[in-house]
Amino acid sequence: MSKARLWLFLPRLFLPGLAVLVLCAAAGFGFTGVIHAAPQSAPPSASRAGISPAQPAPAVTSQAQLVRQGKLIFDDTPRYAAPWTGNVLACTDCHRLSGTVPYATPLTATASRYPRFSQRAGHVVTLEQRIQECFVRSENGKPLPANSPQMNALVAYLHSISASPDKSKPAEYLPLVALPALTGDPARGKDLYIAQCAACHQANGEGRPLAYPPVWGPTSYNDGAGMSHNAKFAAWIQYNMPIQRPNTLTAQQAWDIAAYVNSQPRPKFNEAYKTY
Ligand code: HEC
Ligand code: HEC
Repeated sequence: MSKARLWLFLPRLFLPGLAVLVLCAAAGFGFTGVIHAAPQSAPPSASRAGISPAQPAPAVTSQAQLVRQGKLIFDDTPRYAAPWTGNVLACTDCHRLSGTVPYATPLTATASRYPRFSQRAGHVVTLEQRIQECFVRSENGKPLPANSPQMNALVAYLHSISASPDKSKPAEYLPLVALPALTGDPARGKDLYIAQCAACHQANGEGRPLAYPPVWGPTSYNDGAGMSHNAKFAAWIQYNMPIQRPNTLTAQQAWDIAAYVNSQPRPKFNEAYKTY
């Protein structure tokens, strides 16, 4: 097994932790970057960074810091955007490796695609509204307010990973692999799920905390989420799962597993949010 593959097995708990350590080391001061309930203060060791006490402390919400905060929220949403998150999924569980992997619903071409017309909403939506859509559906939560610090951070992060910051060349948009439109058989899907998925996501679909995200049950995405559509689920898993053998399921197997997983119980979409 290659090093890169092994790395994928590290419980994802390590990844945000590691990111925090790297960021602290790089910035040279204690970790004050997370947006949380506590008010933010200037880094305690500003003078070590070569700033004399007479100078005003650098703004805590510099663009670079906002981007780092956004990545933290993206990688551990239930922790850093808790009031608006109704399950245990982080954005990075679906938008894999912090939204950077082709065919794993990457967000590297996203910032320049908005505002745009949304079929689902029936009107033009801003990037903030599209993020709110994933909060009320995929995260089974509440709309993150458009001008909250957390939203500003997520938007800054999505701009930072935009493959085409100058917008002169639109980035290649590769959200999901193309699969033929088939019909899944949930009975076959169940056998495949037990053989190929249950070791990590568990036979009851609920995963293992901080290691393997749930694919159904009360802590998963709701029935209004993109993943609750078999076509999207099948395309996403065909290219990404099982995580140690990606791109090995046939199209029919992917549809069968989609039919099984999406026939299992999960939270109901809150109709009060149907404008998202
Ligand atoms: C359960 C899986 C899942 C989770 C968790 C999730 N998303 Fe998504 N997201 C999707 C899927 C699938 C799509 C695209 C398909 C669709 O729904 O049209 C999408 C689309 C998007 C888009 C639009 C992309 C584009 O280029 O148009 C944005 C922005 C987005 N998500 C942001 C987020 C953010 C931010 C979070 C965390 C707060 C998040 N998502 C959590 C599954 C998820
Ligand atoms: C070896 C462990 C492992 C196996 C086996 C595995 N997964 Fe995953 N799966 C993960 C991890 C870890 C993630 C989070 C994404 C990441 O870390 O890149 C994930 C994410 C997902 C997600 C998106 C997040 C969510 O919970 O909705 C779905 C859907 C999913 N897997 C379905 C499957 C299906 C279906 C199979 C079987 C075909 C499968 N997985 C097999 C480890 C596994």
